[in-house]
Amino acid sequence: MKPFRCLICGETYIGNAVPDRCPFCGVAGRYIADAAEYVDYNGLELSEKSRKFVQQAMKIEASNVAFYKCAADCAENDVVKVLFKRIGKHEAEHLELLADHLGVEEPEIEPEKCCDDDAANMQQSHDREDRAVKMYSRFAREAAEPRLKEIFSAIAGIEQEHYKMFNTFR
Ligand SMILES: [Fe+2]
Ligand SMILES: [Fe+2]
Repeated sequence: MKPFRCLICGETYIGNAVPDRCPFCGVAGRYIADAAEYVDYNGLELSEKSRKFVQQAMKIEASNVAFYKCAADCAENDVVKVLFKRIGKHEAEHLELLADHLGVEEPEIEPEKCCDDDAANMQQSHDREDRAVKMYSRFAREAAEPRLKEIFSAIAGIEQEHYKMFNTFR
């Protein structure tokens, strides 16, 4: 076994091979490398426009963390509970990496209401992921900084996978 590191969230993974996806933030395996190759890009200068992109993304992530927590807590089905719980953890990791990149503290998570049946929560999850994919894809195109483009494109990729998963389950 050897240590690997996610080039997007910075989390570590010890195993024999690069996993299919980061177990923490969910980005594709191509963003995971030998731990020695990791470069810390946090604290880079960002334009005013890019800072706003990150702040907007953090709002979406914080709201999704709260929503998935509620959806997991009240899930009627155990598999659905697992799904909401893990996706909520991905979103929490996205919130953390965005806050780190911006050099700010993570915000308090304000609780959100969710409907108490799984089907309605699935539908809402689908809509939330759709919104995130569209927003992050635009940020990836419009951000001037190469590192920020990379972050948004990596997280747009995993939100797209969430979206596809909810399409299958709803
Ligand atoms: Fe990661
Ligand atoms: Fe996310």
